Parts: sequence; structure tokens; C-alpha cells
Amino acid sequence: MTKFYVFRFTAILVLMVTLSIGTIKAQTYDTLWLNKIDLSKVNQDYGTPRANLSVDKHPLTVGGVAFKKGLGTHAAGLVEMDLKGTVERFKGLVGIDDEKNGKGTVVFVLVADKKEIFRSPLMKSGMQAVNVDVNLKGVKKLSMIVEDGGDGNDSDHADWVNAYFLYKGALPVALGIPQVEPYILTPAESPKPRINSAKVFGVRPGNPFMYTIAATGTRPMTFSAENLPEGLKLDPSTGIITGKLMSQGETVVTLKAKNTLGIATKKLKIVVGDKIALTPPLGWNSWNCFASAVDQNKVKAAADAMVNSGLINHGWTYVNIDDCWEIKANTDDPTLSGEPRDANGMINTNKKFPDMKALTDYIHSKGLKAGLYSSPGPTTCAGFTASYQFEDKDAQRWAEWGFDYIKYDWCSYGRIYKGKEVAEYQKPYVVLRSALDKVKRDIVFSFCQYGMGDVWKWGEKTGGNSWRTTGDITDTWSSMSGIGFNQNGHELYAGPGHWNDPDMLVVGMVGWGPKLHPSRLNTDEQYTHISLWSLLDSPLLIGCDMTRMDAFTKNLLTNDEVIAINQDPLGRQASRVYKEGGLEIWVKDMEDGSKAVGMFNRSLATAKIRADWSVIGVKGKQVVRDAWRQKDLGQFTDSFATDVAPHGVKLVTIRKAK
Ligand code: GAL
Repeated sequence: MTKFYVFRFTAILVLMVTLSIGTIKAQTYDTLWLNKIDLSKVNQDYGTPRANLSVDKHPLTVGGVAFKKGLGTHAAGLVEMDLKGTVERFKGLVGIDDEKNGKGTVVFVLVADKKEIFRSPLMKSGMQAVNVDVNLKGVKKLSMIVEDGGDGNDSDHADWVNAYFLYKGALPVALGIPQVEPYILTPAESPKPRINSAKVFGVRPGNPFMYTIAATGTRPMTFSAENLPEGLKLDPSTGIITGKLMSQGETVVTLKAKNTLGIATKKLKIVVGDKIALTPPLGWNSWNCFASAVDQNKVKAAADAMVNSGLINHGWTYVNIDDCWEIKANTDDPTLSGEPRDANGMINTNKKFPDMKALTDYIHSKGLKAGLYSSPGPTTCAGFTASYQFEDKDAQRWAEWGFDYIKYDWCSYGRIYKGKEVAEYQKPYVVLRSALDKVKRDIVFSFCQYGMGDVWKWGEKTGGNSWRTTGDITDTWSSMSGIGFNQNGHELYAGPGHWNDPDMLVVGMVGWGPKLHPSRLNTDEQYTHISLWSLLDSPLLIGCDMTRMDAFTKNLLTNDEVIAINQDPLGRQASRVYKEGGLEIWVKDMEDGSKAVGMFNRSLATAKIRADWSVIGVKGKQVVRDAWRQKDLGQFTDSFATDVAPHGVKLVTIRKAK
């Protein structure tokens, strides 16, 4: 009996202890499923992150096994978690979703307070999910990274399945893209004179000539020029050169800028011939900030800001009105409605642009140039009057108004063109080219048909000064980097007077109007954007509200050594010479024999990049110069290596040591 009671007592005790341990355990840790975190904070290079579904919205399936819970993402991807020090463990499985049928390779990485604590094997499509179970005691920050497997991020649909945190206390939260505090690399401007405008300028015989000597340094400043050809005159107080040159040929002029602190000189080659835009156009366009909210006052304010901010002193020239200046059919808005054309078929403006001639006069009076937009179809992309069957009249009108640049889109021409032959793609541009050739004005001709029919292969032949190679850019890493790093191969087709155009800049306050926001590119991404576009010899068209530029944005747009890479007279667009995972090196040959080199890190962790001379195409002792800091980094004999921030760049020039 006693034995029985003792046994019963012990059994009850054991049961109670077990139960209570169970209860303590169950109460001790709460569970946060990964699919429950704030998905807007998940950063990835393509598609949308999804809870309990793959990127392409299928049930999560890895290695033939379906999972109910998890997070469907895409490489390169990053979730930054603030663990608050309350998390005990993270558990789950990782793998490539089966939806891409045999495609995709990724690596999953966990970094806890800057220390790598987990790295999956190279995960290939079809492989069984791999187990993750890590101790996170005391960890504050966890980076959950999906790297592309070294073959680009195509089809890299990366799933975290049955994944959860065990925590006690404060709830861990997702933080979103790591913000990088803005830092300024461009050195402060010297008060001494320095001439920054392009070294070469093309003009057609008999057409109005205008070139502004862009110079930094304290004002007042006096400008002069030696060997200025007959037909041109220079305003000594503004540095604006105007006139007309009648005969073909080249003249080298010595420009001078003088203030109380000294004198700067620079050679300018003037080429009178059939080519203009011998260096990529530098300017501003209204679309990425104002879109349909543009009006005359905003354009005037942009011209004022280009001068008052000092941008003009670094060579920025064009002030371009994009779509929405014309009359719109079928609108209730009285400011936009009216007769699209006058009795002679000449195009009218809407009420937001009451006097185009006065507007371009205003822009020109400041030493700047003016640009406009149209489309070859009956209506523009935003549904305003366009040029179809009025091409000659429109070219004439733009010239009378005084425009120096025309961006010519494609929209609504889709209703007219027949088929996919290259000749059909070319037709509207050939028509406008001949219309522009009939007016006595140099108008930069910018094609905007998004790269259809491999426009880069025939853009020059059909008389384009530049051609968009892509769809529209937006201010996200995936858009900007996707476009920029895809330009490789196009360098074969660019050169003085004819440039590839990967679309306008998305730094500063952008927003496609009327409401603007700071660019969603982080600090390092913005340096990457400007560095890459400069290397690509892209037209640089500022897309932000220049009246609201902060010191960081100004630093991005006023670095004369970076701009000089873009404006180099040789006009040789950079090409990619190295790619390893997310690390890339792009090299551009410069006129003086040096190389401009962009070392880019597209991955999400800081990485060391080494530029070997054999890859760069140089030999022996070389001086490496940091272009953004405008500082020599020293002499190197066979390679140069540096750490590069996530999504960041090191832009250097490499020249032979003396
Ligand atoms: C798009 C073009 C944009 C902008 C817009 C105007 O086709 O790519 O840059 O010009 O049209 O409607």
C-alpha cells in the first residue's frame, strides 16, 4: 500500500513538474513568424516580397515540398531585423522556389551584429530546403541576406519557409533598407577661377552659336578668349559667347577667366561641321519632378536655380520642358483645353505656357539653353497634342520659339506604325530629322522610344544625338541599377554627337509632381547613379526640383572631376571589364590616355574589390586618383584594391606615373 502511495505521489509529482516545465517553456518564448514581419521593409532587387507565397504568387514550394508558412523573396535581398536583444533563436528552412523550373541560384546568409553566423551552400533550383537554426542570444541587429549565386539574379526566387523567431520581451521588428547618412565627398569650391565647361563644342555653319564659359571662383570675374574666330563675340562679364560661323573647320580658342585671386585658362576646340552635342548634354528636365504639374513659372524657377545654385558654373546648360505644355483634347481643365493648332497648323501651347518665346529668351539671357518635348503620334504619352503629320510645322515653330533641344517620344505612334521592321521604327525619326534639317537652328535631337528595334544600332544613322535605351527610370535601387548595369555592350554605338541615354537622373527631390519626395535611393546608391551615368557618357538630365536642392544633392551634381569623365572629348563610353557576383568594374578610356574606373558593389555587404592592371588595360606604375574626393591615392604597380560599401562605388582615374 505504502509503496503504492509513494509511487502514486512520485508519479503525480513527476507529472506536475513536467507540466509546469512545459508551461514555463510555453510561456517563456513567444513566436514571431517571419511571414508576419512588415513586408514593406523587405528590400529585394526584383518583384514583391510575399507572405506565405512565392514572388510569382504561387504556394511556397522548395525541392518538391510545399510549405504553408514563409516569406517569398528575390535575390539580391535583405531584411534588417532589430532583435532588441530579446530573441533566443531563429529557426527555419531556406531554398529556391520550384516555380522557376530549374532556374536560379542563391546563397542565404545571416549576419548577427556584423558577424556572419550562417551561410547556406550554393542553393540551386530543385534542391531540398536547408535547415537554419541559430542562437541569437543578446544579438541586437540581424541582417538576413539573399545573395545571387554568382550568375546574376535572374530567376533567383528565394524562400524562407517555416521560419520564426523565439523571443521573450520586446517584439523584434524589421527595419527596412539600411539608411546611410548623407556624406559629402566633393571638396569645397576654390575661390580662384577654374574653367569647367566642355573642351569641345560643335556647331553647324550659319546657325546661331551660343556657348557659356562655365567657371567657378569668386565674382566679379572677367572673361576673355584668344583666337576667337570672326563671327563670334564674347561678353566679358558673363562669359557668354554668341554669333554665327559660316565656314566649316576647327579652331582652338584659349578661354580665360580672371578674378582678384588669379586667372584660369582652358583650351576650347570649336568644330564647325554637321555634328552637334559633341559631349553629352548636361541639363535639367521637368518630368521626374513635376510631370503634368509643370508650368512656365516652374521652368523659370528652374533656370534661376541652375544659376543661383552655381550649377551653371559646372557646365549645366539645358532647361528642358517635358510633356504637358501642349493643348489636351477631351479635358475639363480650362488651362489645358483650346485649339491644338492655329489656322496655319502651327502648334499652340496651353495656358500654363502663355509665351514660349519670352520663356526661351529668359532662359537664354542667363547663358542657358532651352528644350522641349513632343511625340511622333497624334498625341503625346500624357494625351496632349503631338506632331503626327505636322512635323515640318512643329520643327519650324520650336525653332521660332528658340528651342535648342527636342525630346521625341513614341507614344500613340503605335497606332500608326505597321509591324516590327527596323525601318518602321526608324520612320518617325527620319521624318523629324528632315524637318529639323530645314530650320536654321542647332536643335539636339533626343529619341525617346525606350530602345525598341535596338535603337542604338541605328540611332546615329537616323540623325539622333541621343536615344533612350530603356523604359522609364524611377527612384529605386532595382530600377536605377537594373537600367544602369544593363548598358554593357551599348558602348559600341556611342560617340561624340550620338549618345546612349539610360534616362534621367533620380537624385534630390523627385516625385512626378505635384508632390515631391527625397529620392528613395540611399546615399551610396546616389553616388553609384551619378558615377555610372558619368562613365556611360549618358546625357545627364537632372530630374529633381533644383529650387530645393540640399548640400548633398549639390555635391553630387557639382563635382568637376566626375563631370569631366562624362564630358571627356574622346566620347568613349565605359564597358564592363569584370563581374564576380555583385561586384563589377567598368572602364572608360579618356582622351589623355588615362582610364576612368568605376568599382561597383551591387551586393548588400561591404566588399573588397581589386582592379588588376591586366583587367583595366594598363601596365606598370600608375597614379590612382579618387575622382569624388579629387585626391591622389598613391602609386600602384599591378593592382588597386579597396573596400566598397553595399550598393556603393569607388570611382577613380588611373594615369601613368611620371
Ligand atoms: C514617357 C517618357 C518620359 C516622359 C513621359 C511624358 O514615355 O519616357 O520620360 O517624357 O513619356 O509623357
